[in-house]
Amino acid sequence: MDHDQLIDLTRRALKLARDKTTDLAPAQHMVDARDYTSVERHQLDTAMVMASPQLVGYVSELPSPGTYCTKTVMGRSVLLTRTSDGSVRAFENICLHRQAQVATGCGSARRFTCPYHAWTYDNTGRLVSLPGREGFPDVTPKSDGLTELPAAEYAGFLWVALEPGASLDVAAHLGPLAEELDSWGIGRWSPLGEKVLDCPINWKLAVDTFAENYHFATVHRQTFATIARSNCTVFDAHGPHHRLIFPLNGILDLDEVPEQQWNPLQNMVVIYALFPNIVLSVTIANGELFRIYPGDRPGRSITVHQNSTPLDVSDESVAAGAQSVFEYAHATVRDEDYRLVQSLQANLESGARDRLVFGRNEPGLQHRHISWAQAIEKGMTAAASVGAG
Ligand code: FES
Ligand SMILES: [Fe+2]
Repeated sequence: MDHDQLIDLTRRALKLARDKTTDLAPAQHMVDARDYTSVERHQLDTAMVMASPQLVGYVSELPSPGTYCTKTVMGRSVLLTRTSDGSVRAFENICLHRQAQVATGCGSARRFTCPYHAWTYDNTGRLVSLPGREGFPDVTPKSDGLTELPAAEYAGFLWVALEPGASLDVAAHLGPLAEELDSWGIGRWSPLGEKVLDCPINWKLAVDTFAENYHFATVHRQTFATIARSNCTVFDAHGPHHRLIFPLNGILDLDEVPEQQWNPLQNMVVIYALFPNIVLSVTIANGELFRIYPGDRPGRSITVHQNSTPLDVSDESVAAGAQSVFEYAHATVRDEDYRLVQSLQANLESGARDRLVFGRNEPGLQHRHISWAQAIEKGMTAAASVGAG
């Protein structure tokens, strides 16, 4: 983000803090409780996520040719490689023989030998070795291989499409937001690993916890609220995506500081909601990524939490410090946000009350749900017209 834009956002955040208010949506917004509980909606949500470009990690997870990483995305195991020409490729991490996962974790490897019967693939997905070949006359090494998925690196992140042969147009997906995301550099910072939360909450309840800071003073009274303001957010929509600025408590001190001396990231956290299921959080020292997936039923979701740091993690004590910051942020989400919203899921599933209300002070929450509803409606209209045609 350019400096002038950052200063402008800081001015807006400072004014909201000074006025003890927040950006407001035009009106309250009602949502049907069944959006979080019905099997029909869950199937539509799942189809929506499956059809969207999926941000699966930082480009720094594939730092050089010959490196690879594995990801679980919507329950599917995906192998990503950086090949000798520097390009990123993605494959279903499924052996052609009997479907074992051919790779685990991440690291450097130009060949992947299946742990079950040792069929071996190179990092372009080709089957290069098949022990006991006479048993498989219909399999052709060199031409047969892992199923490839569309893949790209863009705006500092790794992207895949989950359907082989699908188009993957990340530039069209992100629009002008791409340049802004890229400018932070968080996708090139050092990755700190992944932590997974498998929770009995609808995936949208998980996403909702990142869409407003109205809850900071209560849910995070002893954690985030000690550093960040509550119910004070700068909101900007970018098509189906949005950006929130959460001012830190010290922002009011800027009233005493000339603008030329402002260091904006010392005074705020920047949150991006990427359609439909990604949350990015940028601070001066962390590039956090939450990949939130619908689970096998409406009341279950999987969150993969990643973090990257601009610090030099080759120094052991620096690396340990970065890990403890990651652990703290993760524990807060797990023990405060996600634990609390489990009780919402139970109430929603009880059927006792039909609707939820999103306040004018929760514009990010409103925007997420309106974007999802519009995408689902568009998908149903497209399906209907295909059916009619
Ligand atoms: S399942 Fe991979 S070699 Fe048999
Ligand atoms: Fe929270």
